[in-house]
This record gives sequence, structure tokens and C-alpha cells, in this order.
Amino acid sequence: MLALGLLLAGEALAASSGVTSGSAPDEQAMRGEALYRQRCAACHDHPQDRIPPRELLGFRSPRAVVRVLTHGTMRPMAEGLDSSEIAALATYLTGRAPGSEPVPLPNRCAKPGAVVTVGSGDWPSIGRDVAGQRFQPEPGLRASDLPHLKLKWAFAYPEGASGPVQVAGGRVFLASGDGQVHSLDARSGCSFWSFGTGRVVRAVTVAEFVAGEGNARRSAVFFGDDQGIVTALDATSGALLWKTQVETHPLARITAPPSVYGGRVFVPVSGMEDPLTHDASYACCTHRGSVIALDAASGTVLWKQYTIESAPRPLPKASPESVQHFGPAGGSVFTPLGIDARRELVYAATAEAYARESPPGSYAVIAFDMKSGARRWERQFMPENGERDRICRETGETDCRNLFSLSTQVMVHTLAGDRDRLFVGSKAGWVYALDPDAQGRMLWSRKIGRGGDLGGIMYGPSADAQTLYVPIADTTVMPPARAGGLAALDVRTGAVRWQLESELPRCSWQAGEPAACKDVNTCDCSSAKAAATTTIPGAVFAGGWDGHLRAYATANGRLLWDADTAVPVAAVNGVPARGGQLGGYPVVVAHGAVYVTSGASAMGRPGNALLVYAINGKAAVTGGTDVRPDQLEQ
Ligand code: HEC
Repeated sequence: MLALGLLLAGEALAASSGVTSGSAPDEQAMRGEALYRQRCAACHDHPQDRIPPRELLGFRSPRAVVRVLTHGTMRPMAEGLDSSEIAALATYLTGRAPGSEPVPLPNRCAKPGAVVTVGSGDWPSIGRDVAGQRFQPEPGLRASDLPHLKLKWAFAYPEGASGPVQVAGGRVFLASGDGQVHSLDARSGCSFWSFGTGRVVRAVTVAEFVAGEGNARRSAVFFGDDQGIVTALDATSGALLWKTQVETHPLARITAPPSVYGGRVFVPVSGMEDPLTHDASYACCTHRGSVIALDAASGTVLWKQYTIESAPRPLPKASPESVQHFGPAGGSVFTPLGIDARRELVYAATAEAYARESPPGSYAVIAFDMKSGARRWERQFMPENGERDRICRETGETDCRNLFSLSTQVMVHTLAGDRDRLFVGSKAGWVYALDPDAQGRMLWSRKIGRGGDLGGIMYGPSADAQTLYVPIADTTVMPPARAGGLAALDVRTGAVRWQLESELPRCSWQAGEPAACKDVNTCDCSSAKAAATTTIPGAVFAGGWDGHLRAYATANGRLLWDADTAVPVAAVNGVPARGGQLGGYPVVVAHGAVYVTSGASAMGRPGNALLVYAINGKAAVTGGTDVRPDQLEQ
């Protein structure tokens, strides 16, 4: 019921653009402030763990705040508020009324695009391949070309950057903060189509599958949303192919993009119940993460498995008056699923349990049979209780749950050639290498970060044949110490080939010395590397919390290129674009161009920019074939 009521409130809001008409902005802001004191201040005036401080909420656009409250993680906190109250909160937090933002131009392409096919030099899914190695063997540029990269075009994500782009068939596919999925021309950024969902979509996957009688191949864009719905659109035309509700828990959401393989779509499900564990009056908790397989052509559910197998039950109460709690719950899958084509397995990396206990299925890598969904093996990564408490004290974590979440996709590393290995990282700062042929037996493990609710390791590493490149976030490390860094580990042994400390952060939004920035709760200028990395032959790209994209030589970590993406730029769709923090999502390299989504993070400085760099500002975006730099159009 909760979900339905809130959904209706959200749609009513979206339908009426002039939500604040009738009362002056000042009046709205005052109403908003009162509501903030009642409903939000208890958490956001006392930031801890993952709670962002109030000041940082104000950098969002007013509509983005409305969306968080009606469709996003704060939906339960806004339960019962009507649309004018939600608009008042957004006006108070951002200083602007929702609906006052500039409206982007449609910027339609003059000609319809060619039929989309996925070619070898494309980057169709977040891990580039379904194994999640994030290695582009045919980048269309060399490491030595990187210093010559220039901005070619930029796109302003309507209502904020939501997630990364994918590149296939000469097009760019992405989702924006206003719940639209877009297909743009990779050459110029003009728009072939956009599809409005009215829901929160973060990341999409483009894939081909065989459909219908004649075994014709078809390309589609697949994505999940905050309402537990998975959608497939025709990649060429944007027409709806199917839509399937895979989860009905009101607090379920799909944060990571699906993985598509062998005519099946594998979807990881997470939940937004975690913030409610901070609320003593909440009947915590009933949401469990899950993995779902759908038929790519029809959207039919083939199987569904919860990460935590036992369903939540009422737990013993501390006293007759205390709130009834439930468990086990948790085990969300926030990261994409790793596909092991050779063994026909799908791997999920799971996050925390919502209570102090760690039931099977939480903090774990789980291997599911691709065809039947049967659970083949599972391995949990939670230290013994004494050790767990010691680590929590050391890192200063307050609730000691989140810290041990697995925080990266399970990478199926096949590039080495000698054998396959699985890699996964944790917020506590560990990298684990597992043997896929021995039920996930540990091959090696290495701690490379300090660990915390926002890193150790926050998003995934990338690899080449010999080396795993792991970004380290550690956002709680404050100047003069430098947060985070980048580690290059030998895939066979885990030995450190080289490890970099982060540069001093340089944030376009913050004047003065970085050393002035003493407190993570009020300062969002950090050098943390909280974005997934991307590797091409000879270079690894790592995004910084300070908005800088940096590329390093794979051989020794030498800095090759540094671009500040947190800058205002003119966008092809006619509204100002400005980047922000680089967190979460990897850059995409395809056909001689580097695509950077800047500002797509809930935890730091938000932004709305897609920046496309190419050598001398020119990219060859023909789709399919690799293009050498000397063949680029002049
Ligand atoms: C019980 C604690 C709690 C309360 C109460 C609370 N929040 Fe939050 N809020 C959080 C946490 C934790 C996060 C980080 C959530 C995440 O990303 O998982 C957050 C995140 C946010 C974000 C950023 C989310 C995003 O995805 O970009 C906004 C905006 C926000 N809160 C606004 C509000 C407003 C407005 C209220 C009052 C109506 C409120 N919050 C009440 C704990 C709380």
C-alpha cells in the first residue's frame, strides 16, 4: 500500500509542473523548513554513516529532490506528505522552486538512425563484457594519444546525471534523472529517441538476442527501476518491447543494470530499507535482495532466487512496548551480476544484513545456475565476531554492518589465459580472488584500503591480462592525509605491482587550500577514487571525487592525462551542463572517444554532464570497426 500511495503522489507531482503556484517562494521555503525540522533534521543535521549532510542536499536541482522523495531512497521518509509539501521541502533545500529549472531542447536528429547492432569495438554494458572485466581491447586511440584529448560534445542530463552511458551501433544510450532513457547519435549528440518511464532508472544495458520465428537478431535496451520493473526497448526505434514487474516489496529497487547473455536477462535487486535502520520507530526489516532471470524476447520470468533464502519472521521483542522487528533481511545486490559463460553460472555479490546477525546470503558471493537458478555455491566474507568488532572500532564505524558489504560486481577474469579467476571487493577494503572451479575457494586476498561505509573499495576494478586495477575510495580520510588511491595487483598472486596515493584534491567548486577541508560531513572536496576504473591497452582511467578524470600508465602508474570534468560546458541540448564528482560509474572508451558521466552520485557534488572527449575534439564513431587515430576524420 505504501508504494501505491507514494507512486500516485509522485505522478500527480510530475503531471503538474507549477506545483508551487499560489504561494510565494519564501513562504514555500518556510513551510519547507518546518517540515524539514519535523521529518528530516534528525538524520541530515547529524550526518553519520551514509547520511549526507544537509548542505550537500542543496546542490541538487529542486526536481531531483522531489524525485528522491517520491521515487527514490527517501520515499519512506516522505510518506504521507502531499505534493505541495514535497515541493516546499525541495524549495527549502535548494533555494529554488521545482519547475523553475531550464527545459532542455529535444535536439532531434535530422535523419532516423541506422538499425542498431552491437559491434566488437562497442561498449554495450557497464562491464563492457558480461564478465565485467571493463577492458577495451579496441579503443580506437592509444595511451600516448591521451594528452591530445579534447572535448568534442557534451550533453546535459535532464534533471541530473543518473548513470553511465553505453555505446553501441554508433549511438550512446543513457538514463537521465527525470526518468527518461535516451538514444543519442555518438557523432554529434543529437537525439534519435527518448522514452519516459516516470520512474528512477540509473543504468541501461544494450544487447542483441534472437527473436521470433526466423531467428532474427534484434537489439534492445534493458533496464530496471525503483519500482521493481524491468523494461526492454527496441534499441533502434525506442519502441516498448516488454515490461515485467519482478519484485513487489515497496522498498525494492533495481540499482545496477541487467546482464544479458544467451537470450536471458539477469537482474540484480536491491532495496532502500537500509536508511530506515536509523529510525528506531520503524518495524525493521523485511526486504531481501534477489536475482531474477527473464527471457530476453518476451520478458517472462524464468527463475527468481532470494539471496537470503529464509523469509523474514517476527523477532522476539525486547519489551512488550517495543516496536516489532523482523528478520532475516538485507542481502541486497547493488552491483551488476557477473556472467560465467564457461560454467553457465551467474554470480551475485551481496551487501549487508539489516541486523547485527549475518544470515547466509548476506556479505556473500553466490553462484546460481544460469538455466535453473539453482544455488551452486556460496561463500560469505564476514570476519569472526571479535575480529569484526576490532575492525569496526579501528575504522570508527558506528553500526558495524555496512562496512563488510561486498561493493563490486564479481569479475570473471578470463584474460590471463592460464585459468579463470573471480575477483570481488569489499567496503572494508579487501580484494578477494576466488577459484570458480572449486566452489569459490580463496586463491588470495589482499587488504588495500582503510575501509569504511564509503569505501575501502566502492565500485569495481578493471583488468587487463596480467593486472587488476582497483580504485580505493576511503572518503573518510581527511587532508592533509589523502583519501583513496589506485592499486595494481598481479591477477595470479595478488602482489602489488604498484600502488598510488591519491593526488591532493582540486575541486572547481571549492576555493582555497584543500587542507582547509577538515570534516567529511561538511566538506565534499576529496581525492577519493570512488568510481569504477576502465582499462585500455597501456592506460587505466580512474575518476576522482574532486571531479577530475585521470589516466595512468598501466606499467607504472605514471599520470598520463588529467581532465577537470566539474566545469560548466555548453551542451548540445541547449541547457547548461556542469559536471561534479566522479563516483560510481566507469568511463566508456569506444571508437576513439572517451565518454564521462560527471556528477552521478548521491554522496557528493552532483552534476548533469556527459562529456565526450576525442583526439583534437574529433571522434570516429562508425560503430563496429576499430579506427586508428591516424584515420580519424579531420
Ligand atoms: C532515518 C534517517 C533519515 C531521515 C529521517 C531522512 N533521511 Fe534523507 N537520507 C538518509 C540516508 C541514510 C541517505 C543515503 C541513502 C542512500 O543513498 O542509500 C539519505 C539521502 C537523502 C538524499 C539524497 C538521496 C539521493 O539518492 O540522491 C536526499 C535528497 C535526502 N536524503 C532528503 C531527505 C529529506 C528531504 C528528508 C525528510 C523528508 C529525509 N531525507 C529524511 C537518511 C535519512
